[in-house]
Amino acid sequence: MKEKILVIGANGQIGTALAPLLEEIYEEGNVIASDINNPVNYAGVFEHLDATKANDLGAVIRKHGITQIYHLAAILSAKGEADPVWAWNINMQTLLNVLEASREFKLDKVFIPSSIAVFGPSSGKVMTQQNACLEPSTVYGVSKVATENWCSYYHHKYGIDVRSLRYPGVISHQSMPGGGTTDYAVDIFHKALYNRKYTCYLKPDTDLPMIYIDDALRATTELMEAPAEKITIRSSYNLAGLSFTPNELFQSIKSIMPSFDIDYQPDFRQDIADSWPGSIDDSIARRDWGWQPEFDLDRMTQDMFLHLLKRKDVLHQPVK
Ligand code: SER
Repeated sequence: MKEKILVIGANGQIGTALAPLLEEIYEEGNVIASDINNPVNYAGVFEHLDATKANDLGAVIRKHGITQIYHLAAILSAKGEADPVWAWNINMQTLLNVLEASREFKLDKVFIPSSIAVFGPSSGKVMTQQNACLEPSTVYGVSKVATENWCSYYHHKYGIDVRSLRYPGVISHQSMPGGGTTDYAVDIFHKALYNRKYTCYLKPDTDLPMIYIDDALRATTELMEAPAEKITIRSSYNLAGLSFTPNELFQSIKSIMPSFDIDYQPDFRQDIADSWPGSIDDSIARRDWGWQPEFDLDRMTQDMFLHLLKRKDVLHQPVK
């Protein structure tokens, strides 16, 4: 049977890049992008979908004969802190709708991302382990710890083939930043190109786990393509790309753009960043399905500039 893939939250940071890649893998017409907002620039099949509404989700699954879901809709860490109950409701309602639909429609596979936000001050800072203590300090992290437990529960109780990654901060050029604490590392590139100066909301020495979009996408498709018997973690896999501080990123950008300048005005996001690890031990992902990141800091910086310069007009038009 042909796979029919539904991407939920297709206009978000990962969805914007993943939906076109899935179209390349599964062919146009077999990937249905969906989001609560209309896409700015997407040529494939698109459904307007509010995933908090179970009936609407079911209707899209029925209409297209969906066999797999990538559920990428979520309220991230910094945005979630502005209205924690709203963030919890959206993150949990969409999750439970997707898991229930997976059971009802007997889907082949489901991808549900988690995040380094599941970690907190008690998790350990350096090479944080897969089974570290999960006591997060943000509502986003709390919702992702619950997400991981629900994924594991649906797998063990109903046999759903749920797979998940704890994404580090994702650095991408396909979309604008969207409410995360790690988003400074995306925004800084846009400010470097257009303002030549960036005011960073984190301190210069704040080490955080990050991953370049190419690596993040490859991790996602490699995990989803791995044979089911190789998947030993049904909550969510630790995943590492690279780790860097704002100052290290600034130096990397400055080596290409010597006139670039930065200053630092830490805000509430500093506390969030301080509660997260600086680096992640992803040895179980490496062992189970052969994970290996490719991008280091300077290669990432060069690739970001290359793409952003090409996409200047698309990215800087107002969102409708
Ligand atoms: N990028 C996320 C955030 O900052 C963490 O995974 O909220």
